Amino acid sequence: MVSEQALQQIKSLRDEINQHNIDYHVLDAPQVSDQYYDQLLRKLHELEVEFPELLTSDSPTQRVGAEVSEQFESVQHEVPMLSLDNAFDEDEMLAFNKRLSDLLAVDTSLQYSAEPKLDGLAVSLLYVQGKLVRAATRGDGRSGENITTNVRTIKSVPLKLIGDKVPELLEVRGEVYMPLKGFNQLNDRQRQNDQKVFANPRNAAAGSLRQLDPKITASRPLTFCSYAIAQLNGEVLPATQYEQMLLVKSFGLPISPYIKQLSSIENCSDYYQELADKRDSLSFEIDGVVFKLNDIKQQNKTGFVSRAPRWAIARKFPAQEVMTTILDVEFQVGRTGALTPVARLDPVEVGGVVVSNATLHNMDEINRKDIRIGDTVIVRRAGDVIPEVVSAVLKDRKADFKKPEMPATCPVCESEVIQQEGQAAYRCTGGLVCAAQRKEAIKLFASRKAMDIDGLGDKLVEQLVDQGLINSIADLFSLTLEQLSSLDRMAEKSAQNLLDALEHSKQTTLPRFIYSLGIREVGEATALALANYFTELEAVENADEETLILVDDVGPVVAANIVHFFDQSENEQVIETVIKAGLQWPPIERIEDIDLPLKGTTYVITGTLENYSRQQAAEILKKLGAKVSSSVSKKTTAVVAGAKPGSKVDKANKLNVTVLDEKAFDELTGN
Ligand code: IVH
Repeated sequence: MVSEQALQQIKSLRDEINQHNIDYHVLDAPQVSDQYYDQLLRKLHELEVEFPELLTSDSPTQRVGAEVSEQFESVQHEVPMLSLDNAFDEDEMLAFNKRLSDLLAVDTSLQYSAEPKLDGLAVSLLYVQGKLVRAATRGDGRSGENITTNVRTIKSVPLKLIGDKVPELLEVRGEVYMPLKGFNQLNDRQRQNDQKVFANPRNAAAGSLRQLDPKITASRPLTFCSYAIAQLNGEVLPATQYEQMLLVKSFGLPISPYIKQLSSIENCSDYYQELADKRDSLSFEIDGVVFKLNDIKQQNKTGFVSRAPRWAIARKFPAQEVMTTILDVEFQVGRTGALTPVARLDPVEVGGVVVSNATLHNMDEINRKDIRIGDTVIVRRAGDVIPEVVSAVLKDRKADFKKPEMPATCPVCESEVIQQEGQAAYRCTGGLVCAAQRKEAIKLFASRKAMDIDGLGDKLVEQLVDQGLINSIADLFSLTLEQLSSLDRMAEKSAQNLLDALEHSKQTTLPRFIYSLGIREVGEATALALANYFTELEAVENADEETLILVDDVGPVVAANIVHFFDQSENEQVIETVIKAGLQWPPIERIEDIDLPLKGTTYVITGTLENYSRQQAAEILKKLGAKVSSSVSKKTTAVVAGAKPGSKVDKANKLNVTVLDEKAFDELTGN
């Protein structure tokens, strides 16, 4: 390549990267995947190495971040906040180790301190005389934004350091991030309130920290983890990275529970593999592992290059967000008949796994994200959740890309598809006529938390239904060795194993069986509550809605679902058949059989009590043998009402149900 050509390419790369930087760092609205961005940056870096005369100080490879946004007061960093160099494979790790060994002129193994690379945003915390006086974002590395009021709302950040050797001054650097569970809950909430859904936990953390109203930040599940000391006065600085982190911990600041000292670069490789294996089961997102020279003297000797310290490196994991194209959108029919739009993708590797389908959740979500068939999209998978389409890359959109449309009839059974009022979901009206719904019901029945039928996986269920060998759960227990052995890829041995597993699963428990029926919105916890309350299946089958809402966790909607389920004669037939086949469970000891003072009574608790939380009050009543329900009915013994009780007391008055104040509650319970 000639220099002129290279100049053009370098210029266009810089422009593109600069734009992505602004989208990402300033606007919190990334347009491309991290992986793609990394590729651009690498390409630019390579060209600048090849043509050093074209390197300028304003190149994106030469600076840490993007412009500081103007909403918050600006803060100067006394010690610059640096970034990290990346390594993408073993060879790059070995090169890193060799570079350091050469620089330090040592021929023995170098020691490292290792910890996960959290995917959030870097924050500096300044403690003076043990008090948090300032928190700041990285910004461009020299100056960031003062976000003290927001950071004070993060519960894992101590406002005051603990211990008897609190330093005069301590500046800690670390990552603010959002654990996956909180992230998913936040997005569910945002979706329900028709508000912006965040692309990933890192954007959610950034968006939450940038709020001008600290109340909003406080309502977001952010957390913090320290990874470096930037300044320390009035206390001896430990000689290793690892000990420094232990010191930080001793002041009450969180550090990574996975931090480890490693005695060689080979051990670094093992550590990387260990974390890669754990990655999907962690409760938060990590995008790699950070390795730092453990010896601080050695760190100081090696120093810095413009963008990052020489003594540290981030070994990156395969990206969890990548770009691909939507080939088509199809609709999958679930157990309850709900049609879920699923994007068929040009297969792509995400986080080390090849993905060819991703969920689009529902039609509202497709509209909100404005997704068309043919779009280039960002696809994301994290942990063991189903991959999802995050957003479309609008610049690649062609005019003839079509919006996915909800079919009028079920793609599996051709029954009518309807949308129930007030619900986002569209449903197939086919019920058990629909093979898709039947398959899903059987899959749930066989699953681990339900009847736990070993060897009866999803694929086999589909095969059995497609071959017409089973139509419903009822047919499972009459399968024969002959039928099973006739299936593709099913040897007689596996067929016999499956029959044994079916036989074995007949010894079950009542909660499992209730759960395995797949009644809408009856999960494991509700199934358990139903079993404990009624103790007999027959009692559940015969219960009316009024009785059902007396059970913990059961509100009017779930109660109606349960009654509806047992009203269907097909369902009753299925239950009868499997029980005839020998399915059984041990009896449940009835709490009524134990003589307790409030046996046979039912209470509802409402409003704010002075001396107890509602949960505590409920525990007290239950210990005395009472039932505690969430809704008031004729069968309620009394309503315990604290301050600001609301509609439950009105309902009690209407139904002539006694209302007790806290004093009466204390008398009743003898507290
Ligand atoms: S050390 C001087 N350790 O990664 C070294 N950084 O890509 C400064 N990060 O800006 C960074 N986890 O926001 C370090 N355990 C960890 C980290 C970590 C996440 C972030 C940090 C940094 C970025 C660099």
